[in-house]
Amino acid sequence: MKRGYSESSSIEVQSQPRSFLDSNFLEDESTKIFARKVADHYSARTNQTLEEREASPIIHLKKLNNWIKSVLIQLYARRGDAVLDLACGKGGDLIKWDKAKIGYYVGIDIAEGSIEDCRTRYNGDADHHQRRKKFTFPARLICGDCYEVQLDKALADDAPFDICSCQFALHYSWSTEARARRALANVSALLRPGGTFIGTMPDANVIIKKLREANGSIFSLLKAYSLEIVSTGFDEEFLEKKFKSSSPFGIKYKFHLEDAADCPEWIVPFHVFKSLVEEYDMELIFVKNSHEFVHEYMKRPEYVELMRRLGALGDGNQYQSTLSQDEWEVAYLYLSFVLRKRGQPDRTQPNGRRDKGKMHISKEDMLNIEH
Ligand SMILES: C[S@@+](CC[C@H](N)C(=O)[O-])C[C@H]1O[C@@H](n2cnc3c(N)ncnc32)[C@H](O)[C@@H]1O
Repeated sequence: MKRGYSESSSIEVQSQPRSFLDSNFLEDESTKIFARKVADHYSARTNQTLEEREASPIIHLKKLNNWIKSVLIQLYARRGDAVLDLACGKGGDLIKWDKAKIGYYVGIDIAEGSIEDCRTRYNGDADHHQRRKKFTFPARLICGDCYEVQLDKALADDAPFDICSCQFALHYSWSTEARARRALANVSALLRPGGTFIGTMPDANVIIKKLREANGSIFSLLKAYSLEIVSTGFDEEFLEKKFKSSSPFGIKYKFHLEDAADCPEWIVPFHVFKSLVEEYDMELIFVKNSHEFVHEYMKRPEYVELMRRLGALGDGNQYQSTLSQDEWEVAYLYLSFVLRKRGQPDRTQPNGRRDKGKMHISKEDMLNIEH
């Protein structure tokens, strides 16, 4: 299927990113403040009851995003895999990993409140609507900043991982080149050769296209869409719609999606991302905007059935609500990617990582990592 936007709508960043890094991996104070803002925002989001969740104005969008993540996991996870879930949040993907029959799970998130919710969900202590049975894989949960801490040290005994997942979160690393590099260096160092990195994040091409289409100096998706659930605004320096080729990092915008996010985010120009991952020994398998993803995988009966079960598009019952046009437009703001770590897998290498995992995680088992 054709992408709904042309290559020419991509950010005009001409040069190749051999290294934009003019300083080193250290951060300045404002970067830390933004990282804290993001953490506090997610930490403060409380668990919803099933009724609250179903009443959300974006419930079908959430279900659609869950379908996309489930398809990615079903496509790439294998029985017994060791999984690293970067920015795992409240553990919303634990059930998906369980269905894939993985062998070990490590989840990391910067938001203390979210990782604690993940712990109770994993233990089965959460609201009875959220969990029904124990998970079948041992797990470890860590609170930390995945885009700042050198994770291969902290996870030396857990690595290598077969699969790394970073869902709706990698764009938080794009505030500086140092953080973007740390994120990719972490993934690369922890994946085994031939291992897979799957993820979802905002589609910079679409966001920039919307910016260009918007008349007037203030970009707002409210102008582009008829909905009130999403709005975004660029920082003043970017309102002129100019982006310096020398700095494709730190392009900040404020993103508000009702019942989902309300914090600073950063544009990830995909061609810069692609060249950077190559520096870290990973190659692109595919990138698809969510619209293209849905069209492609809805051709497969098993994923049509999964969509029906998750209820994103209704279940064919005429009384059942379905994804609204507005929610479909918001879905267009995101893409999915799959990368592979270069090299041949070494099946002979012994690995004791599973010993570190627990089937029940107490507060004392949780690791808090500072850089
Ligand atoms: C939109 S939520 C997605 C959560 C989860 N991946 C999912 O799909 O359900 C974004 C998550 O990224 C986390 N996050 C943002 N910056 C982070 C960082 N520097 N290190 C670790 N986690 C981070 C937030 O705390 C939040 O839980």
